[in-house]
Amino acid sequence: MADPRILLVIGGGIAAYKSCELVRLIRKGGGSVACVLTEGGSHFVTAMTLAALSENPVHTTLWDLKNEVEMGHIQLSRAADLVVVCPATADLMAKMAAGIADDLATTLLLATDKPVLAVPAMNVRMWQHPATRRNVATLRASGVTVMEPDEGAMACGEFGPGRLPEPEAVWAEIGAALATHGHSQPLEGQPDFAPERHRPLFGKHVLITAGPTHEPIDPVRYIANRSSGKQGFAIAAAAAEAGARVTLVAGPVHLPTPPGVDRVDVETARQMAAAVEAALPADVAVMVAAVADWRAAEEAGQKLKKDGSGKVPPLHLAENPDILAALAQSPQRPRLLVGFAAETERVIDHATAKRARKGADWIVANDVSGDVMGGHANAVHIITASGTESLPEMPKEDVARALVERIADAFA
Ligand code: PMT
Repeated sequence: MADPRILLVIGGGIAAYKSCELVRLIRKGGGSVACVLTEGGSHFVTAMTLAALSENPVHTTLWDLKNEVEMGHIQLSRAADLVVVCPATADLMAKMAAGIADDLATTLLLATDKPVLAVPAMNVRMWQHPATRRNVATLRASGVTVMEPDEGAMACGEFGPGRLPEPEAVWAEIGAALATHGHSQPLEGQPDFAPERHRPLFGKHVLITAGPTHEPIDPVRYIANRSSGKQGFAIAAAAAEAGARVTLVAGPVHLPTPPGVDRVDVETARQMAAAVEAALPADVAVMVAAVADWRAAEEAGQKLKKDGSGKVPPLHLAENPDILAALAQSPQRPRLLVGFAAETERVIDHATAKRARKGADWIVANDVSGDVMGGHANAVHIITASGTESLPEMPKEDVARALVERIADAFA
């Protein structure tokens, strides 16, 4: 592929000013960029600035007679190698998820046959709102890469996830998206995402679960465990570094998304099971999550109250779906299915039995009687059909790299 052509859609949010720096990075890196400025975006940056930086005309309206004689919006949507929406506002993503086409930006996003990368930026509450979560999940399920926003202080004075990632991070993500779609050379300022021979999992889809699940008892209480997500996130990062397309289904944890990883956040085991199913097909699945085996049989609609009588309310449990065992039986079973086993005694015996019972190809066993859950280090035993390999204690990142190496060997 020659120098990449980016179609940049600029939504209406304060973060739009960072799109100017992104245009500069794309040009400096050797790519060309055509900008589509939404009505909202034009309140934050001007078409003049973008035209000067991109050295290209800026498109603002669907109702340009000269362009539309030649179906300009269709041509525009097809002429790029990658469509980047930055900033992707809550409104823009809702329209994309619903297939609404009521201006130039949304029309070409519906008409394009090219990969789309959305870079969200919005207030933390808007990002966490169930409607936005649904829209992000819909977009990801339909193949749009949605970056995770950064966390920190926001222009509106609140704090949390929702800030636009720095332009350098967006530029790196553009490199990853282009590499996935056949652009073999990283450009200036981009990490080396491409050459297949250095990237043993290039072209493979790796599905990873990580973190705990929370099972609500009432609106303020839940059943949980001590998993921090560190081990699973480290494996996601190592798989992405190895060139895989990675989907990370994460329970409630406070960890940043590793670069190049598509993340789906869930809370409960049943949501995790649904997200795993939605992410299929995958070549490899690595089930690191500490899924709660049980949930409260009935979630109370209101906070359970002490009534002063000293009587304790009963807590009835129901069994959660076993995601790993179900995946092993699925018609879409990944070629390599890796489970984890968290044990506190007779670690290898219990894990070996678990491998057979759940139908996994490999089980990675760890002793969680110490501080492995939540800690930074781990000592694992990799149990396969041909035997057990025990690794010494090491940082979770090194465990992740060792496991990904073995996965890559299995596909070599
Ligand atoms: O997150 P960290 O703080 O870094 O800690 C890492 C870890 C200790 C959580 C991780 O290394 C680990 O051991 N993960 C598996 C935890 C677990 O739930 O193990 P288990 O033995 O209960 O489950 C066995 C396998 O079945 C696991 O792959 C699990 O994801 C899966 N499972 C379990 C229950 C269920 N309902 N559905 C499942 O898919």
